[in-house]
Amino acid sequence: MRLDALPAALGQVVGNRGLVTDGSDLDPYRHDWRHMFKGRPLCAVLPRNTREVAEVMQLCAASGVAVVPHGGNTGLSGGATPDESGQQVVLSLARMNAIRDIDVIGETIEVEAGCVLQTAQEAVDEKGLLLPITLAAEGSARIGGIVSTNAGGTNVLRYGMARSRILGLEVVTADGQVINGLRRLRKDNAGYDWKQWFIGSEGTLGIVTAAVLQLAPKPRHRVTALLAIPSPADALQVLCAARNAIGETLTGFELMAGSALELVTRHQHLKVPLGASAWYVLLEASSSLPGLRDATEAFLGDVLEREIATDGVVAESERQEADLWTLRESITEAEGREGRSVKHDVSVPISSIPDFLKTADEAVMRSFPDVRINTFGHAGDGNLHYNVIVPTYLDAAALNQLVHDVVVSFGGSISAEHGIGQYRVNELERCRASVELAIARRIKDALDPQNLLNPGKVLALR
Ligand code: MLT
Ligand code: ZN
Repeated sequence: MRLDALPAALGQVVGNRGLVTDGSDLDPYRHDWRHMFKGRPLCAVLPRNTREVAEVMQLCAASGVAVVPHGGNTGLSGGATPDESGQQVVLSLARMNAIRDIDVIGETIEVEAGCVLQTAQEAVDEKGLLLPITLAAEGSARIGGIVSTNAGGTNVLRYGMARSRILGLEVVTADGQVINGLRRLRKDNAGYDWKQWFIGSEGTLGIVTAAVLQLAPKPRHRVTALLAIPSPADALQVLCAARNAIGETLTGFELMAGSALELVTRHQHLKVPLGASAWYVLLEASSSLPGLRDATEAFLGDVLEREIATDGVVAESERQEADLWTLRESITEAEGREGRSVKHDVSVPISSIPDFLKTADEAVMRSFPDVRINTFGHAGDGNLHYNVIVPTYLDAAALNQLVHDVVVSFGGSISAEHGIGQYRVNELERCRASVELAIARRIKDALDPQNLLNPGKVLALR
């Protein structure tokens, strides 16, 4: 089929309201939410069900036209933005947003790809359960994006990345076949676990249309505390002390540079309930059993006495808990208001965090004296958002390379949770071993031989 005839044919499949072809209606599909990545789609289609997704893929495959899957568009790596060719179809899952089933006894939810994470969280909460994937963008991020980016967030420490919550998937392949793997099994060793190929592959191997997620019991007790900390090394001492004292109840351990909270107070007009400090830790613990608050307060007393924390505040109400989390979750927005920033979503072995920061800070300031480093992140997972606020003229690629070289020298990863998208494609090619890249290409060739699924994302175009 000729390219200019394709939108009308796709419209036959998804109906008039499911086809977007012109003007400002296409705007949401032209760029990511930070306006960092821009593209020009041929059209956008919004199927209503899995059969329509399959038919869209069949038409696009027959026409040799590439498809860019689109969820809540909250990613930070440009994975959902088409290229500039005007020849790619954006496939939005937004109209497939049903919660198909919540199994209270089995602790599972079956949900369509377009359902907003927070909607799914609220639905299971009403049933007394917890969907333990938590991230700043949960009010807009959709399940399909969570699955296909293997999202992380602020409680990975306790519950793991999205991958570890996914029991089953429904996927539409590049040639428009439906794989129904919506099994709810905790144990399933029957051959290859193919769903893992689609988790975290950012829509380059198939379109995720629905998922079965494993839920968890909803903890009845929660303690949230903000601590002022002299250094990253002290933060790790506090982490060890927390593990010893309150062990498996620890759900979040977020490290924030004082400068990150300074941005938040200045741009978001929020108040930090502690005095100025070089670093802060936001810690959360939760449990179904009573006694958590007493145990946490005893542990906090201990770290203050040992001076690995210099001050602390424990939230006394849900409101105060939310306020502490708002400080943490506003950093990205405040950073955006401060000016241009170059993001690094890196991970290193947890014990290497202090040395990594020292080495990276020295290297960056030596080569780029005009920048400001804005470090925060999920220190309990070894994941740091090592973001750098830069002048407009700065060569971002050179800065990326310098930081990533330090990351690799510590045995780290150049993307802990945000994924590769289009932002880190070249850096992945540079930093990963050729044998790893060759295996990735063989899987891509097997599942998407025409290279029509999100081309140029994760793997470089050849
Ligand atoms: C966060 O943890 O707040 C985001 O993943 C980070 C970012 O904006 O770099
Ligand atoms: Zn993060």
